[in-house]
Amino acid sequence: MIYFVTGGSRGIGAGIVLHAVKEGNDVAFTYVNSEERAQKIVEQAKDINPDVKCKAYRMDVRSADSVESACDDMLMDFDSVDVIVNNAGANRDNLLVSMSNEEWDDVIATNLTGPFYVCRHFLTTLLAQRFGRIINISSISAVGSSGQCNYSAAKAGLHGFTQSIAKEYGRKGINANVLAPGYFATEMTKDLPEDLQNFWRSYCPMPKGRTGEMIEIAGAVSFLASPAGGFINGQIININGGLDWGP
Ligand SMILES: NC(=O)c1ccc[n+]([C@@H]2O[C@H](COP(=O)([O-])OP(=O)(O)OC[C@H]3O[C@@H](n4cnc5c(N)ncnc54)[C@H](OP(=O)(O)O)[C@@H]3O)[C@@H](O)[C@H]2O)c1
Repeated sequence: MIYFVTGGSRGIGAGIVLHAVKEGNDVAFTYVNSEERAQKIVEQAKDINPDVKCKAYRMDVRSADSVESACDDMLMDFDSVDVIVNNAGANRDNLLVSMSNEEWDDVIATNLTGPFYVCRHFLTTLLAQRFGRIINISSISAVGSSGQCNYSAAKAGLHGFTQSIAKEYGRKGINANVLAPGYFATEMTKDLPEDLQNFWRSYCPMPKGRTGEMIEIAGAVSFLASPAGGFINGQIININGGLDWGP
């Protein structure tokens, strides 16, 4: 299969890229700033599985032009796409009372409008082949999280967006689902306030202090992309160790 993963230069996205490569898939992925790291992921991919193709593209998911040009380049190089993982994300936390227009707009653009640009662009290809697996990465924060009203709104919006795709295109062989992670130790979470990190760690009903492992999200992506995941459509699948609420 051919994967397109946004934000594959680090964190969860890099875990998804490398796992897909290990399983024998060709993978295109994107970064916005981390060119050097993206190239390292490409090298790691070559070491893991020299028989598959792995290539990185610069793309700012907030810009329709940037998305369209990266997706077109990807289609030129790979000829097609089967699995789309909208993983790129960013948070700019603040209390609602102090949140700037820019913090709001930027987080909505990255986490919600970006997946819209990507899905819209690739839909023609998926429809032509009557097959596609769209997997959108949301968050435990979609249920609401203090200090994150922009991020929570974007991720909750991603749920409705994904479920609408499932209904519009399920009959055409295109499945769309959400994976909603809890706490995974990445650059996104390392700078969160200490009390928020302690909250996730203390209340998660898992062995003490346990956070999610990359394989636990990359494996779920691979399951949804496989024939075993073929009847799962329009679902929000939590990968959060059993903690499905926030402070
Ligand atoms: N970590 C967690 O505990 C957690 C929990 C719930 C949900 N999530 C979600 O999981 C996904 C991955 O999170 P993560 O923790 O792996 O984050 P991360 O380590 O901060 O990585 C973010 C990725 O997104 C890319 N990105 C950021 N802004 C972008 C933009 N404007 N255009 C294109 N790409 C952009 C980054 O590219 P560069 O490297 O080039 O900057 C990077 O590859 C996100 O959607 C996040 O909301 C994470």
